[in-house]
Amino acid sequence: MENDKKTTDNEEDSQVVNPWEVSSTKKIDYDKLIDQFGCQRLDQSHVDRVKALTNRPPHVFLRRNVFFAHRDFNEILDAYERGEKFYLYTGRGPSSESLHLGHLVPFMFTKYLQDAFKVPLVIQLTDDEKCIWKNLTVEESKRLARENAKDIIACGFDVSRTFIFSDFNFVGGAFYENMIRVGNCVTYNKVVGIFGFTGEDHITKVSFPPVQAVPSFPSSFPHLFSGKDNLRCLIPCAIDQDPYFRMTRDVAPRLGYNKPALIESLFFPALQGETGKMSASDANSAIYVTDTQKDIKNKVNKYAFSGGQDSVENHRKYGANLEVDIPFKYLSFFLEDDEELEHIRTEYGSGRMLTGEIKKKLIDVLSEIVERHRTARAAVTEEMVDAFMAVRPMPNMFN
Ligand code: TRP
Repeated sequence: MENDKKTTDNEEDSQVVNPWEVSSTKKIDYDKLIDQFGCQRLDQSHVDRVKALTNRPPHVFLRRNVFFAHRDFNEILDAYERGEKFYLYTGRGPSSESLHLGHLVPFMFTKYLQDAFKVPLVIQLTDDEKCIWKNLTVEESKRLARENAKDIIACGFDVSRTFIFSDFNFVGGAFYENMIRVGNCVTYNKVVGIFGFTGEDHITKVSFPPVQAVPSFPSSFPHLFSGKDNLRCLIPCAIDQDPYFRMTRDVAPRLGYNKPALIESLFFPALQGETGKMSASDANSAIYVTDTQKDIKNKVNKYAFSGGQDSVENHRKYGANLEVDIPFKYLSFFLEDDEELEHIRTEYGSGRMLTGEIKKKLIDVLSEIVERHRTARAAVTEEMVDAFMAVRPMPNMFN
């Protein structure tokens, strides 16, 4: 018994996933995360329903199970089927000047959801969060929020249904009232249980979770949703954000509010291999949206962890290990063509395709995405940022 317990503890120790840390000595065990967090797996029936309800092909991130977990997603789809709309809520903590591909994943997906369901979207820039956790100055954090807003806008959001806000600029009024309502439902012991705060943590950390919680409630945005207190909220995010929304869902009924629904993604792995999400501090662990084609080529060729064999002879004989191969993993996120991906799976997996060939394919695919983003980002003006961030009604947001 003693021994069994110990093994379990060690296994538990090898994987840490919370909003501030994602690390693991092995590949992240997503099944275990689903169990631990208490969310549900997304399955083919959801993909089929989305396809039928929106009358368009499901996004590649849905087809490939990049968004793999959910909470109450069925209820959103049921409501939508009855003719009720909902709104989307996502966000970003602006901790770095430029984004990497992993940062784009939730925004690309949210853009698709917005277009497919024709619904409004609120995007929270938690500039306050990054002052609290990353020791950025208030001024620097605000500057980064505005820079990041440009990258977000470059993903193609529709200004007639998208409100982007920074916490430092927007928190107050009805939003703040909801923060206090939420905070009054959560004890110190409870946040310690959910987030693992200790007595050494600054009090700003303890008081932050309501800030990320309340955009889940329509009444936090009177300029958008006044009189629509029952409007449902769907949050697309990476699964490390789940603790915030577990807390939110826990308190919602006590406040007479709907629980937000969630649709949650895998982490986009580092070039070096799949043991966690990419670290913004190691420039060689990720492809940035500011990387040149030459950077992309170098990084993929030099750092992308390969499941190919060590000699051509062995590779032809045994084939590549697709389970650990980063070029294949990245292509499964970003290569749109299902047939081509299947072709690569069989050819590379059997050893007929070589590592150099799959890497070349990946370089082409990523270069195109990054180039497209660069062009879109360059076209984003200060006036456009102001337009997205203006506190304004959006009369056509459901059309
Ligand atoms: N905490 C998130 C981050 O550090 C930012 C964020 C705020 C967010 N609200 C969100 C992310 C809602 C997803 C959904 O990046």
